[in-house]
Amino acid sequence: MLVKVKKGWEVPERDATPEDIYVNRRQIVKSLGVAPVIAAGASILPAGSALAATDLYRVSRNKKYTVERPLTAEKEATSYNNFYEFGSHKQISRAAQRLETRPWNIIVDGMVEKKFEIGIDDLLKQVTLEERVYRHRCVEAWAMTVPWSGFAMRELVKLAKPTSGAKYVAMQTIAESKAEMPGLRQFWYPWPYQEGLTMEEATNDLAFLVTGLYGKPVPPQNGAPLRLAVPWKYGFKSIKSIIRFSFTDQKPKTFWGSLQAKEYGFWANVNPAVDHPRWSQATEWLLGGRQSDRVPTRLYNGYTEFVANMYPADADEVYFR
Ligand code: MTE
Repeated sequence: MLVKVKKGWEVPERDATPEDIYVNRRQIVKSLGVAPVIAAGASILPAGSALAATDLYRVSRNKKYTVERPLTAEKEATSYNNFYEFGSHKQISRAAQRLETRPWNIIVDGMVEKKFEIGIDDLLKQVTLEERVYRHRCVEAWAMTVPWSGFAMRELVKLAKPTSGAKYVAMQTIAESKAEMPGLRQFWYPWPYQEGLTMEEATNDLAFLVTGLYGKPVPPQNGAPLRLAVPWKYGFKSIKSIIRFSFTDQKPKTFWGSLQAKEYGFWANVNPAVDHPRWSQATEWLLGGRQSDRVPTRLYNGYTEFVANMYPADADEVYFR
């Protein structure tokens, strides 16, 4: 007898979302009517040019963030990925090379003093780049430890100048074309990929916007040219290839939460005591090792000292809020 076993991330047809919700980055810019701006102090680079790699990716390591685990091999971290826009399996790294990461404009809008659009290279001239070694824990129970480079998300929030009523920041991934991102043909997913944080989370010390990995530009499969790293949360919160930050007083819709609210909470803080409805979260396995070699999962993925003050003491709640 053939039994169809539902995979962890499989979605029932009844949750299908119509194709017409796809958003194309050029359409967003057009519909918003935002003028490209270069924030004060930045010089203009010719379209498509990037700053020298040595300036941007060989940055000094911030020793405040240490982990007791060995670094994951670069090959593992860059060849076992979740990036559903390129396919709903782990071997998407080749397909992801189609993503064009220059020019790359980012829209900052919603509850801000003045909405604007800025090129990634101009943005990078206005922030302080550093390297941080972070643990990463996917909700599927695999984990890695990698050296990201980038800048504190708090710096982006400062540039955005949110108004006092803003309570959340919503983020959106590019959803360019089905040729570039073949995963978009899977019409039952609610493209574009979206995520959100509270303002308190977005300005927490740990919230990091990533532009590099292992001292090089972050590769497309890991979310070039700009992705989030919020290491105390399950990996699905760490949205890749971001093109928009919108400040809002409404709790943002999220990609996985729209599909399965009962399985993917908004807070999604790592918690060994709260199982995913379909599997245990008590242990995890390390990329590069065997799936059967499990190690204990840590509350907030080991980052309690940085983040526990943002959540209620009853740790059981901190996944689904
Ligand atoms: N961002 C987008 N746009 N699309 C995705 O499918 N997957 C998420 C997150 N960000 C995803 C995404 C999940 S589930 C995880 S675990 C991490 O990216 C994986 O990051 P990595 O491939 O760099 O390890």
